[in-house]
Amino acid sequence: MGRCRPIARPAAARVGKARGRGLGSRGSSAMAAEKPVVAVTCTAPVNIAVIKYWGKRDEKLILPINSSLSVTLHQDQLKTTTTAAISRDFTEDRIWLNGREEDIGQPRLQACLKEIRRLACKRRSGSPEDPLPLSHSCKVHIASENNFPTAAGLASSAAGYACLAYTLARVYGVESDLSEVARRGSGSACRSLYGGFVEWQMGERADGKDSIARQVAPESHWPELRVLILVVSAGKKLTGSTVGMQTSVETSPLLRFRAEAVVPARMVEMARCVRERDFQAFGRLTMQDSNQFHATCLDTFPPISYLNDTSRRIIHLVHRFNALHGHTKAGWPARVGSVSLRFIRLRGPTGSELWCLVTLNAWFQVAYTFDAGPNAVIFTLDETVAEFVAAVRHSFPPESNGDKFLQGLPVEPALLSDELKAVLGVDPAPGGIKYIIATQVGPGPQVLDDPGARLLGPDGLPKPAA
Ligand code: DP6
Repeated sequence: MGRCRPIARPAAARVGKARGRGLGSRGSSAMAAEKPVVAVTCTAPVNIAVIKYWGKRDEKLILPINSSLSVTLHQDQLKTTTTAAISRDFTEDRIWLNGREEDIGQPRLQACLKEIRRLACKRRSGSPEDPLPLSHSCKVHIASENNFPTAAGLASSAAGYACLAYTLARVYGVESDLSEVARRGSGSACRSLYGGFVEWQMGERADGKDSIARQVAPESHWPELRVLILVVSAGKKLTGSTVGMQTSVETSPLLRFRAEAVVPARMVEMARCVRERDFQAFGRLTMQDSNQFHATCLDTFPPISYLNDTSRRIIHLVHRFNALHGHTKAGWPARVGSVSLRFIRLRGPTGSELWCLVTLNAWFQVAYTFDAGPNAVIFTLDETVAEFVAAVRHSFPPESNGDKFLQGLPVEPALLSDELKAVLGVDPAPGGIKYIIATQVGPGPQVLDDPGARLLGPDGLPKPAA
């Protein structure tokens, strides 16, 4: 790549001067003069897919075999914070994750850096002079931190790479779509570039230019929606997503069927559920898609199982909870055998209303989804959270951290009816769930203006831990 003119002054702050001694043992001793350091700090959210991405059609460009749709979680509970700083005095790119220096040579990090510099270069060619003497060719120092356990199976790489893409874009003055930059780090990361409800369109082009994320609805769209993360295990998973999906693509006929014959219609239906805030259909489809994803994992050869006994107990708990509410909540409907009867209101084309008695397989108050690990993510509505959390406590009594068992948004204590206790069964599994994080739908990446939030000091090195 040829040299470009200096980049435009980004939404970034000059934070000071890079000094030779500040770069430590790996630093340069050849710095002739003090040059400005430009730094930006941003945060980005975790997202949870309700229509799952599993399988790539291009491993290098990270292009998926199917589209996917996710919910962005609120950064008050789960977020990555990243500071990126550039200076002519930096002699090499460097990165620190959660305080530890990591290898910047990792191919996915390199792909993100290369792509952002390509975009920065493209943007500058042909635009007017800029006073800031920094360009895409400047080396970058990056520090990144999660406010949740990295290996807890909570999509940390999605938040991490989205934050990296967003922060680098600001520091290098890039304003174009960042799907490709984030995607080259981790496929699901492109969905964390937006708040609310986000789809990643798989695209058809071989160069991936049409494989982009876009918002389906903003975070304010469905304020009653709540998310509970039931942390079953904070350990690292046995089979990572990247390797897992590669084996699935190579060996699972079910995965191919899913991508071609099932997901396209599900994408349309899920977007409708979100637009119309139809929790019944949203909950059902979320659970069905999670189950199908895990079925493709079992169809993979050798099989992959991400769920454990506790995950399966959670699935049963959700179905029992739903079944009880399906025939008691409103006093009506009634239950005949295994079928629930319910009145629903239909609206005709002329606006006339008609009440019909219908049979339902189930009535959904709560839905689960599982990614590549045993932790459950539960979707429900505000009015159901307290009772469901009480049901979880009943089925999985906290072992030692009773006071820290529930984290995040406050949840009122609730008493369980004897009927619900009976339905939940008599076989509690103490300690099965380590803790719960209660959260909601949240916004996309943010720029932090507060200098106190920066993870790098004026010398471009990580600030010492407070
Ligand atoms: C099960 O985005 O982590 O969470 O693109 O190889 O980095 P790579 O995979 P990754 O896969 C996420 C898979 C999933 C489903 C989803 O988030 O859509």
